[in-house]
Amino acid sequence: MSAKTFYVTTPIYYPNDKLHIGHTYTTTAADTITRFKQLQGYETEFITGSDEHGQKIQKSAAKHDMSPKEYVDGIVETFKDLWEKLKVDYTKFVRTTSDDHRSDVEYIFKKVYDKGDIYKSKYEGYYCTPCETYWTERQLDEEGNCPDCNRAVEWMEEESYFFKMSKYQDRLLDFLNENPDFIQPAKRRNEMINFIKEGLEDLCVSRTTFDWGIPVPVDDDHVIYVWFDALTSYLTGIDWNRDEEKFNKFWPADIHIVGKDILRFHTIIWPTILMAADLPLPKKVFGHGFLLVDGGKMSKSKGNVIDPVKLIDDFGVDAVRYYLLREIAFGTDGSYSTDNFIQRINSDLANDLGNLLNRTVAMVDKYFNGVIPEAKLETEFDTDLEEVATNTFKLVEDNLEKLQFSVALEELWNLVRRTNKYIDQTTPWVLAKDEDKKAELGTVLYNLLDNLRRIAIALVPFLPEAPAKMWEQLGIKDSLADQSWDNVKSKDLLESGIKVKNGDPIFPRIDADEYYQKLDKEKKEEQANKKGDNEMSEQEYITFDEFGKLELRVAEVLEAERIEGSNKLLKVQVELGDEKRQLVAGIAKHYEAEELVGKKVVMVANLKPATIFGVKSNGMILAASNDEGELTVTTVDRDIASGAQVK
Ligand code: MSP
Repeated sequence: MSAKTFYVTTPIYYPNDKLHIGHTYTTTAADTITRFKQLQGYETEFITGSDEHGQKIQKSAAKHDMSPKEYVDGIVETFKDLWEKLKVDYTKFVRTTSDDHRSDVEYIFKKVYDKGDIYKSKYEGYYCTPCETYWTERQLDEEGNCPDCNRAVEWMEEESYFFKMSKYQDRLLDFLNENPDFIQPAKRRNEMINFIKEGLEDLCVSRTTFDWGIPVPVDDDHVIYVWFDALTSYLTGIDWNRDEEKFNKFWPADIHIVGKDILRFHTIIWPTILMAADLPLPKKVFGHGFLLVDGGKMSKSKGNVIDPVKLIDDFGVDAVRYYLLREIAFGTDGSYSTDNFIQRINSDLANDLGNLLNRTVAMVDKYFNGVIPEAKLETEFDTDLEEVATNTFKLVEDNLEKLQFSVALEELWNLVRRTNKYIDQTTPWVLAKDEDKKAELGTVLYNLLDNLRRIAIALVPFLPEAPAKMWEQLGIKDSLADQSWDNVKSKDLLESGIKVKNGDPIFPRIDADEYYQKLDKEKKEEQANKKGDNEMSEQEYITFDEFGKLELRVAEVLEAERIEGSNKLLKVQVELGDEKRQLVAGIAKHYEAEELVGKKVVMVANLKPATIFGVKSNGMILAASNDEGELTVTTVDRDIASGAQVK
């Protein structure tokens, strides 16, 4: 009989900034399903990693005056630290800059090329650097921006290699029809099918405009498109081309868990690449929703990015994982709020679960000197409790199979509450008063402890710390690591006669007011430190003399027109007192040419002249830019003659 295996992946993350709580969402889900499969007796592989190539990373590194590799090395370490803190137990962390990965990417590219499914041609299109994606004019949003991130795109032309994705359109549609569960949740399936039906174009899979990537094996002037490179990490993770036995054991992957924004790459591009490489397709791709903050997108400019490291430091890893898995239905968007977080932790973890354990162990201590009694008879409430327990564990299992973590936890908490109710129904404190009721009291406490045993094991996939604490208080000798899902389903496995260990509450209640005060204090301290830093670091300042070198002047726009061949640039004629000047401004996405005429703007008048797109530019108009890259030109508050100095 072949061993049961399960292979799960998260996306590999871009190391160009810190990870936020949205990223921990995917990884927590993947870790949870992996731990659940382990409990079921599967041999598992779970990979995550970092997607380190591409223009965006190269640009970020340059901004930091670092080589791309130096730059990503530092960030990747912070990712690994976060996963350790979150107790994410991956089997492999794939870095796309590793030698193994590079050779796998070269291999798959060459294989598809040799087959004739990659060819050289010329590419023209609108390129979104942040998304590393080309778009056709038709695909751009109403503003002419990237339809995914709504940021500005650039017109680019380059000689490129193309993957014959169009060739696989029908085969992919057939596959999706034959495998209706391949794309999850079901509601996203139609979106993908419609996209394919509109017609798949061949995919540009190489770039020449930057060099931070894996060179095309047959042409050193090109680097491989970052998505072609990144998706291959799912093969690298299980040692494709290095360990055939392992690869055959785990491929095809059982599930790729990804955010909804990158579902298209996983359900269209990836399957067609695999088809071309004659490899089987993954069994499932799950596109989960986005984690929002107070109902909106997380962004640095809004200052609402939730740092998972701080959250774990403040509340512990179990609280963070519980919240993420319980609060948001996997597949839909959900919103984080600190109020909601504290409420959820207090009610479910501190009250329901924490109290159940605490009360039960304390009663065993009090009425049986801490020794687990035997269940000698049945009380009138036992059958119902057992029915709920059996049903619950079945529902938890079914929902975990479907990655419905929130429903699974909701069900489990039904049992936690039902077990608490069992205490109220059986009133052990009343039974304890009557020596004749000793056996009944013993039965009640045994049933409580045995349910806690089952709940502790069932929580192992979700919470890395609490089950072990529960186990210790329950005094169970067998190791928690040796437990299985079967032990959750079986009742009465708890050994009588051993001693429980009354301990601290496993989830202390969080005082919301105290927490907000702490946050306030931290913020003030941080601001004070920042101020201190600013006062100390001389290099942050420029001298007045340095500023004086800038010649800023008010200019009146006389004429403006678009520069042919560029969707970004305007040719602008300005009046600067008696003088007339021509300059090029990169604001065509944000202003119609006519809109600028008559405006009095601020310009840098002594900037070294340059020729841009074949047009002479003598000066620069200043514009303010927000986080989304939207530009607003700087004008003057009151009317003033052109040529006036700005100081
Ligand atoms: N590097 C690519 C993935 C390549 S996989 C072969 C990438 N990286 S990413 O860092 O931008 O995003 C990684 C994952 O995080 C994606 O699945 C994305 O959907 C997810 N999330 C990013 N922000 C998120 C939220 N706010 N909420 C939930 N998931 C989010 O894409």
